[in-house]
Amino acid sequence: MRLSLSRRLLLAALLLVIIWTLFGPSGLGEELLSLSLASLLPAPASPGPPLALPRLLIPNEEACGGPGVPPFLLILVCTAPDNLNQRNAIRASWGRLREARGLRVQTLFLLGEPSGGSRENDLARESAAHGDIVQAAFQDSYRNLTLKTLSGLNWADKHCPMARYILKTDDDVFVNVPELVSELVRRGGHWEQWEQEPQRKAKVGDEEGGEGSPTSGSQPVPLLYLGRVHWRVHPSRTPGGRHQIAEEQWPPAWGPFPPYASGTGYLLSASAVELILKVASRAPPLPLEDVFVGVSARRGGLTPTHCVRLAGATHYPLDRCCYGRFLLTSHRLDPREMQEAWELVGGSDGRRTVPFCSWLQGVLGILRCRVIAWLHS
Ligand SMILES: *[C@@H]1O[C@H](CO)[C@@H](O)[C@H](O)[C@H]1NC(C)=O
Repeated sequence: MRLSLSRRLLLAALLLVIIWTLFGPSGLGEELLSLSLASLLPAPASPGPPLALPRLLIPNEEACGGPGVPPFLLILVCTAPDNLNQRNAIRASWGRLREARGLRVQTLFLLGEPSGGSRENDLARESAAHGDIVQAAFQDSYRNLTLKTLSGLNWADKHCPMARYILKTDDDVFVNVPELVSELVRRGGHWEQWEQEPQRKAKVGDEEGGEGSPTSGSQPVPLLYLGRVHWRVHPSRTPGGRHQIAEEQWPPAWGPFPPYASGTGYLLSASAVELILKVASRAPPLPLEDVFVGVSARRGGLTPTHCVRLAGATHYPLDRCCYGRFLLTSHRLDPREMQEAWELVGGSDGRRTVPFCSWLQGVLGILRCRVIAWLHS
């Protein structure tokens, strides 16, 4: 059968569109690929001994409590003691939101100990003023980020076991809280038709329920590890580099890291947090927290799911349609930009009259946002 020239052109164009959609900046291909990961996993490792984590200096045990329903989403923001301006920018912008789509949201900052020691009092004062700080007894440094993240996840497991999802993010990330909650509800399917039923009982003791079901409550939470997935990343061996991994920590024979979600923003269900804490003590102690979580998750039989709406390391230029509707996170915003982005999406005013996107912008969706980011990079 011979096709006329115009038909051949049409076919070629169609093919291009398909390839572009799958492998172009839409990220759809990556999402599909990440769904196939679970089938490639080795059997999960057995749980290791309990983690030895630093004690809490500001435990903030009551942060998740209070009257009313427990949080649906707990946001843990890794921050350094010196970054007061970044924390205040978050407090004045997206961190102000206490609920989204009718569900409770709680935002907390994770810190270690400042190196000088003099600022200890400042932190205590800040904590008293805002009540949103969790501080653990370790030296706050970039190479201790894994310790910080694990302390935060452990805090969530101990003191906020009723939160269904945990977002781990950094203090230079803009988080689109309402869209994030919508995305979780959508992905959670019928689990998230969350009638405000009697809350899961707080856990009694941590020893029980080792094997068997990954959740100790009556209502199982589906496992979720969602983020911007990095594939086949090889450890950096550059001496003195921020991301350097010694050969003792990750021998060359082990090849690239397993797929992991970028630390700028990834989501774990409560059950996934529990699973990671169980196997983490047997995972190699890598200083890169996102890689470490990926390695632990994999040992527990859990693979990350890719989500293009999470920005990873990408900084998106301020754009009302992208920030209001399509992006769930954007990276590298200084305090001023954080405030600008917040004003752009209408602040905390839930009753917006003007839609975020024009009809065309709505059709182009995340693709348009990614092209803008690419043009600006
Ligand atoms: C991490 O924290 C511990 C405990 O404070 C400290 O001994 C260690 O030096 C820190 N590591 C780095 C790389 O900063």
